[in-house]
Amino acid sequence: MYKKKTSDVVAFTLFAALASAGGISALQAADEPKADAPAAAAPAAGGETKAPDAGAAAPAATGDKAAAPAAAPAGGTMTTAERVKAAEKGTLKNPYTGNAAAAEEGKKLYLANSCNGCHGGGGGGGMCPPLTNQIWVYGSDDDTIFRLITLGSKELQAAGYKRKGSENVVGPMPPYQDIITKEDDLWKIIAWMRTLWTHGDARKNW
Ligand code: HEC
Repeated sequence: MYKKKTSDVVAFTLFAALASAGGISALQAADEPKADAPAAAAPAAGGETKAPDAGAAAPAATGDKAAAPAAAPAGGTMTTAERVKAAEKGTLKNPYTGNAAAAEEGKKLYLANSCNGCHGGGGGGGMCPPLTNQIWVYGSDDDTIFRLITLGSKELQAAGYKRKGSENVVGPMPPYQDIITKEDDLWKIIAWMRTLWTHGDARKNW
């Protein structure tokens, strides 16, 4: 089903989106429609951490698409785009936080949807901001993160969200609403992302 859209299509769409938004110039070298090209290039270019290496090599390229499908038992029934429209600002909450099985699926989805091409296989960053540190560009709460990934930076900003944190890279996050359409899938990815947090409970707001 939606998995067919991963890999090449995802990478192409994303990089096109980023390029047209006048984003990070290094990404524009990734004209080739091969998903593995950007994935492999990402960690080397930014190089904030080494975490990306392992995951970045494997993911979008080939095999993971086959592994990813196990995910997604039916839960929420809206698409990500519908949910963002339907929910009042500040009300979205991840039903899978702390659910290890969901987080495991989330990691596969993260790789299958080429997030690692920009954020690194372990979420540690690369040419785009790390998902593991204490800086959150628009906010760290579930509601903001779900909307950012669904809408992308431009639409999120159009909806009134402002950058408050500054990461090592300032560029647009591409919209995923046509790529990750199941809200459950996105929540699982976010659940996995939460497992990367190593900075204690004090600053958690999810
Ligand atoms: C084309 C590169 C690219 C891809 C692919 C990408 N992102 Fe991003 N992402 C970015 C950039 C650039 C930002 C910073 C956005 C800004 O400053 O407006 C960002 C920001 C984020 C943030 C907020 C980070 C923070 O520190 O506040 C999260 C969370 C995130 N992305 C998750 C994801 C997930 C999950 C995926 C896959 C579904 C993904 N991204 C795919 C480029 C990308």
